[in-house]
Amino acid sequence: MVTLIRKTAELVSARAPETSPVGFVPTMGNLHAGHISLLERALREFDTVYFSIFVNPKQFGPNEDFTRYPRTLENDLALIEASGAKFQGKRIIVYSPESSEVYPEGQGQTVEVLGVTTDLEGALRPGHFAGVATVVHRLFELVRPTVAYFGLKDYQQYLVIRQMVADLCLPVKIIGMPIVREPSGLALSSRNQYLSAEERQQGLVLSQTLRKIVDLIRTKRDLREAKALSAEALRDPRWNYLEIRDAETLSTDTRRSKNLTVLGVFQLGTTRLLDNMQVELP
Ligand code: PAF
Repeated sequence: MVTLIRKTAELVSARAPETSPVGFVPTMGNLHAGHISLLERALREFDTVYFSIFVNPKQFGPNEDFTRYPRTLENDLALIEASGAKFQGKRIIVYSPESSEVYPEGQGQTVEVLGVTTDLEGALRPGHFAGVATVVHRLFELVRPTVAYFGLKDYQQYLVIRQMVADLCLPVKIIGMPIVREPSGLALSSRNQYLSAEERQQGLVLSQTLRKIVDLIRTKRDLREAKALSAEALRDPRWNYLEIRDAETLSTDTRRSKNLTVLGVFQLGTTRLLDNMQVELP
């Protein structure tokens, strides 16, 4: 059964008497198979799943795509219903509020995570992670989830949220779910629809390059050739960055790392495509 809630007061009264564990999937809507994989994992693990759809203004910079970010609630609800139908007897509560419901006037609290936010997306999108941490913290306060599910496509965001939960001792477990890809290798993203057919083709460089770097690390067992390949790729100015980092801390010092992440952002016009792949060091 799917229930749609638009008001925070309704959400609070739906959740307040409940002490049972619940799963939570926060999203900005315009759902694709990646989001649905989070929902279905939550439905496998909980009888009640909260699912938020909210395009959070606080995480967009002044020249970013907040106004044109796709808002497709009706279609999103149809996808949620279709998933729900596969899980008889489970409850899905969709919270899709206006901005004033999430940030009532006078509510000025912000949450800023240090360390893992400074670099990469944090450097290129000032204020972005404070916006993400603030809204996720607010949603956690309202929903009080037992477990919350995030896609690993936004790998740095996943680490930021984990850090916030650790720093504030929040009683929620964070699960990162694998990236869902098109057969071409392109990671699913709501922003892919900004791409022309030609840009979609050009965007394949991103996952192909990450894959080559990961394969080199696996087969050569050291980073020299992988770093050379990355340096060569970076001659193409469409890369915002392409980095090999420690997968836990995002540190550039990988000498003692057990797991690495290869992260890249490839820009086509104004659209920034993000992707990453993890690799265990042998
Ligand atoms: O990943 C997203 O869709 C958003 O950043 C999130 C976590 C829902 C916060 O607005």
